[in-house]
Amino acid sequence: MDEPSKSFFLLSGEHPFLSAAELQHVLEIYGYGWDFHLPVQRVAVATTSSTARLQAVDRAAFTKMAGILLSYGRTQNIESGDVPFEDECIDRLPVNFRTFSVEVVKVGGVDVNSVEVEKKTAAKITSAHPGLRVCLENPDKIFTVVVSPEAYFFGVLCSAKPRKFFQQRRAGRKPFRLPSALQPKLARSLVNFSVSSPDSTVLDPFGGSGAILVEAGLMGHEVLGLELKTWICNGMAVNVSHYCPPTCHVIQGDAARMPFRKAFDSVATDPPYGRSTTLAGLGF
Ligand SMILES: C[S@@+](CC[C@H](N)C(=O)[O-])C[C@H]1O[C@@H](n2cnc3c(N)ncnc32)[C@H](O)[C@@H]1O
Repeated sequence: MDEPSKSFFLLSGEHPFLSAAELQHVLEIYGYGWDFHLPVQRVAVATTSSTARLQAVDRAAFTKMAGILLSYGRTQNIESGDVPFEDECIDRLPVNFRTFSVEVVKVGGVDVNSVEVEKKTAAKITSAHPGLRVCLENPDKIFTVVVSPEAYFFGVLCSAKPRKFFQQRRAGRKPFRLPSALQPKLARSLVNFSVSSPDSTVLDPFGGSGAILVEAGLMGHEVLGLELKTWICNGMAVNVSHYCPPTCHVIQGDAARMPFRKAFDSVATDPPYGRSTTLAGLGF
């Protein structure tokens, strides 16, 4: 059974408000987030199922990792040499693993000696459970300590976004490129803000090179992109077929005169501005 537990999430340092709002909404999509709070700027805490925890890292553009929260406290305690948890917290841990590692993640320019904290934490875990062994290459379990200038958060790592998650689909790397294209991170967060369920259908009435379509498609949504200009529409089709499963559809047409009757659950878009603004032959 997917028993909910207290989870902690590391957010990206860019756009702090956007990062937190996106994660909270993604948790709400999966039925959680009622106790969502931000004890410090880069760390969010909420009660979630393991599915919601994994989906949050997978979906939310600005969420870097998630774990089960075992303990937290003031950073000054670990600066003065304490390990980041009480004995009972580690005694309670179900020991269904043989090897582990400890990783410290420092945020907000905090100045702690990561290696010291990692060593002391590992030593305390092995003294509580002598059968366990530290393994740095391929541990069964990873314990993480996220340390900010104010507080630390200690727990079991459940999921981390690959470092180059967006790299292959950055605007400049797509087979078809447009100067006005959105970067995939922002496009993904726009989709997340617009949908209310993992099954929501999505419309982008100003598709351009298809950044929003690609992200929505990769998250499993059925999505349709409309685009006025033929050459851009063809380019969007190239990008979509390069990255996405067949849940993405491309149609040439004018957003002012939608060429279909179908209703969509949500709209995520980046409307035309500057030189891409056109009335497509319509007068005021
Ligand atoms: C800001 S760009 C969208 C960029 C897109 N998000 C991307 O990542 O490439 C706006 C797009 O809307 C298109 N457009 C402008 N007027 C339109 C209309 N009336 N109907 C449909 N598309 C339109 C433009 O050709 C342009 O490609």
